[in-house]
Amino acid sequence: MLDKALIGFLAGIAFVLVFLRRKELAPLPPGPKPLPLLGNILQLKEKYMWKLAVDWYKEYGKLVYANAAGIPMIFINDFQANEDLINMRGDKYADKPKMVMLNELCGGKYILAFIGTDDAERVLRQRRIMKKALGPGAIPSYELSMETSTRQLLLDLTSKKTTIEGALLMYTSSVTLSILYGHQVVSSDDELVKITGEAAEVLSNKIAAGTKVWAVDILPFLRHIPAWFPGAAFKRLAAEWKAVLERSVNVPYERSVEEIRQGRAVASAVLISLGEDPKPSPEYDLDLRWSLNAMYLGSIDSSIAGLENFILAMVKYPEVLKKAQEEIDSAVGRSRLPTFSDRSSLPYVEAMLTETLRWGCPVPLNFPHLSVEDVYEGYRIPKGSYVLGNLWVMSRDERLYPDPEVFRPERFLGHPYTEDKAFNPWNYIFGTGKRKCPGVHLIQSSLWLVIARVVAALDIKPKVVNGVPIEVNLKEKNAFFRMYDGLECEITTRAHVNLDQL
Ligand code: HEM
Repeated sequence: MLDKALIGFLAGIAFVLVFLRRKELAPLPPGPKPLPLLGNILQLKEKYMWKLAVDWYKEYGKLVYANAAGIPMIFINDFQANEDLINMRGDKYADKPKMVMLNELCGGKYILAFIGTDDAERVLRQRRIMKKALGPGAIPSYELSMETSTRQLLLDLTSKKTTIEGALLMYTSSVTLSILYGHQVVSSDDELVKITGEAAEVLSNKIAAGTKVWAVDILPFLRHIPAWFPGAAFKRLAAEWKAVLERSVNVPYERSVEEIRQGRAVASAVLISLGEDPKPSPEYDLDLRWSLNAMYLGSIDSSIAGLENFILAMVKYPEVLKKAQEEIDSAVGRSRLPTFSDRSSLPYVEAMLTETLRWGCPVPLNFPHLSVEDVYEGYRIPKGSYVLGNLWVMSRDERLYPDPEVFRPERFLGHPYTEDKAFNPWNYIFGTGKRKCPGVHLIQSSLWLVIARVVAALDIKPKVVNGVPIEVNLKEKNAFFRMYDGLECEITTRAHVNLDQL
């Protein structure tokens, strides 16, 4: 008996030693040559880090290792590897990097996308709130709001008073503020649009701008230097941005709670979360107000990026727009706009939605997850690595999508793509695993409705200058989301459509 126990014990030790040794011996994945101390930080300062990640993929393959002044970084350039690690080994990759500038100094520590496993209970609580507010069961209660906002969007897109970008911002803000807070936006001067828009701008273009590597994130002791100290401008900026973030968390929430108290609330995530009696515990109150804000921040730029890429596709692929218009004209008729009840009779529009997400790939490089020590296919993933799924490369996989740069909804037609994990973009465009985007069901409805109604009511053509159609000349403008400056085209109502009567 004792012998057996001893043998078992020794075998256990041998296994652990072999395992540790294997880990010790495992080489790092291939990657760009680092400089002493700085690693690859000079390259990583590039604004569009996702483009750099694509270049590295072409050179080094499906797993790439780099380091940012000592912080290990792993780029995953393959659907299956992303699934195996971020989904199947979910607990090992559910953590988030601790960013001193963002989390501590700017007060972003309660924004879900940046909360790590050291506050796992909060992650669970906030994800539960989001599941209730944005899960499939909640979406039908927002359909009316989506229908109203899409009507306004059609008017704005054809109006000369605003740009395409302005119309899309107005649409995404009004849908999101209505769904989250029950707030009805009536003009672009709306105070809540401004307050929340400012926070979105600060977050993605100032605090977390692609080119900006904050010294305090690499040398955390710098957080202790006083704000007046020479070179401490980051502390003064942080105080300013913290105030912007907090205003966007508190003002819309408190207004919404007041509406419930007054008995005037309409369907919204706040109402779903609080019910008719808005007296939550302080801890729930804190999680609710920050999770609403995280949903707002998660929704705006990503949705605009999705919609801008849809419009761009319509300019470049007129035959797709024409085919979709024929489908809608025949299944819905020409006298009304499509509604959700038409969805099952519009397979081509459905395929366009999926192709829009694949082709547009609104978030080309996923947000970083923080790893524990691990080994994958013989390569070492060091503890504390920033692990980034390269969603762009997955969406351009030629083995799955021949001519990946071509917008072709037909690739999803007549193909049971929802049963084919790697082929189905819904399985990676929103991330995977424990931190997968909670907004996916909302997008499944809201983006579909926009696409169906734009196709039904509008014509989209290249802009014509001096009688010549000009090629759309776009400049990307956001480090994380595929949004553009200068998206210009001719958008008109179709000949038989009178928007005021639809
Ligand atoms: C086309 C639109 C969208 C795209 C492509 C998109 C994509 C993503 C991606 C790639 C992530 C990171 C997942 C990860 O860390 O692995 C994410 C996270 C997140 N998204 Fe979205 N998203 C979209 C719309 C939305 C909407 C409409 C909302 C809310 C209303 C939302 C809220 C969030 C939140 C709160 C997170 C953080 C989740 C967490 O860290 O646990 N997103 N999204």
